[in-house]
Amino acid sequence: MKHPQRQHAIWGHRGTFILAATGSAVGLGNIWKFPYVAGENGGGAFVLLYLLGIVLVGVPIMVAEVLMGRRARANPIGAVGAVSAESGRSPLWSAIGWCGVITAFLILSYYSVVAGWTLEYVKAAVTGQFAGQSGEQAGAVFSALLADPYRLVLWQSVFIAMTAIVLAFGVTRGLETTVRVLMPLLFVLLLVMLGYAVQVGDFGAAVRFLFSFNVSDLSWAKASVALGHSFFTLSLAMGAIMAYGSYMPKRASIGKTVFAVAGLDTLVALVAGLAIFPIVFATAGIEPGEGPGLMYISLPVAFGSMPAGVLFGSVFFVLVTLAAWSSTISLLEPLVAYINERFGLARPLATLAIAFAAWLLGLGTVLSFNVWEGQQWLLGRNFFGLLDFFTINVMLPLGGLLMAIFVGWRVLPRYSRLELRQEPAWMYNAWLWALRYLAPPAVLVIMIASIYAELAP
Ligand code: PFF
Repeated sequence: MKHPQRQHAIWGHRGTFILAATGSAVGLGNIWKFPYVAGENGGGAFVLLYLLGIVLVGVPIMVAEVLMGRRARANPIGAVGAVSAESGRSPLWSAIGWCGVITAFLILSYYSVVAGWTLEYVKAAVTGQFAGQSGEQAGAVFSALLADPYRLVLWQSVFIAMTAIVLAFGVTRGLETTVRVLMPLLFVLLLVMLGYAVQVGDFGAAVRFLFSFNVSDLSWAKASVALGHSFFTLSLAMGAIMAYGSYMPKRASIGKTVFAVAGLDTLVALVAGLAIFPIVFATAGIEPGEGPGLMYISLPVAFGSMPAGVLFGSVFFVLVTLAAWSSTISLLEPLVAYINERFGLARPLATLAIAFAAWLLGLGTVLSFNVWEGQQWLLGRNFFGLLDFFTINVMLPLGGLLMAIFVGWRVLPRYSRLELRQEPAWMYNAWLWALRYLAPPAVLVIMIASIYAELAP
């Protein structure tokens, strides 16, 4: 295929794609959201549905996404257009790239605000502020943070700046170097936390909670939340994985690398659950179904009452910060690559411009927790609520659906087979089958169910 971009970078090391894509996938979704959503949905049954969502729908779509990026060696918008043209299809398909890149930008704007909270908690943990806190006190500290727009803007700005600096240095010098240091460190910190939880917490209760389930616990509502979460946690349909795939060498096997990324992402979510719940179960007065406050309210209470809580509380919040950082990097990259390749704007400038725009939009999210909190913009939601709903419940599944249809039905199999030539025939056939017949109906049902659930009174 003729490559639209002649100057497209390639990862300098084997294995960088796995580290970078795992960095994108592992984030607040794994350490903050997965444990509390599993907690709210009763544990085991939800975990099973989530695993099915990853294997049956998430993995096939991730393969499709990497395949498009690597085939075209271009930013997501250019890539979908080029892949479509090669198979003689309409240029309108590049809308998939547009949708992804714009949604990634929207998510970046609020993800960096929430990620900023973890920086505040690193500071609180290191300075020993959790010691002896009661549940009410921890709740009041969290509410006071959200009520203070200046502090939120400060941390949001630091977080976006951290993200932009990495990308300004380029794909190999910035992005690749960072993930090669960050990801091993993240795994070590996670293991340290697991060891701590086994030592001081109620590990048996956590294992029972996450892995024992009753068939009667399964429901459509849970399936919808579980599948939605498997998309978010794998960073699908945002152009992030496609952008990283476009830097992947031709000799690497897409199938194997995608299995590695999905496996590592799932492992981190489960290990995060196994590190958090023992601590929660061993602390009197806090519940697993706490909701979003699980990490910012329950855990500080737990660390405040546990041996070496200052040290391990700090390790934990540094870990979350690193995980969120490698995710925001991947949310910014697709648009930076597009502006850089399409308009020839130098990378540092492109990065600065997009990061500034995301920061500006993020101010809306900051204000949603205080000044604008009670304001209802649409569907009874404030600015942040609306952005969150639109990106996660509408754009994410829509993007996944379109990708599955496009690569499954419109890209000529001889081209998809060429990119997946390292895979045995049965695996290629199973993948194509899942992409054609399994993913679209599953995503459609879940999308309708989740929009209905949100809109129903
Ligand atoms: N997968 C990330 C998480 O679980 O926190 C979030 C995310 C990153 C979603 C990048 C989408 C994306 F493109």
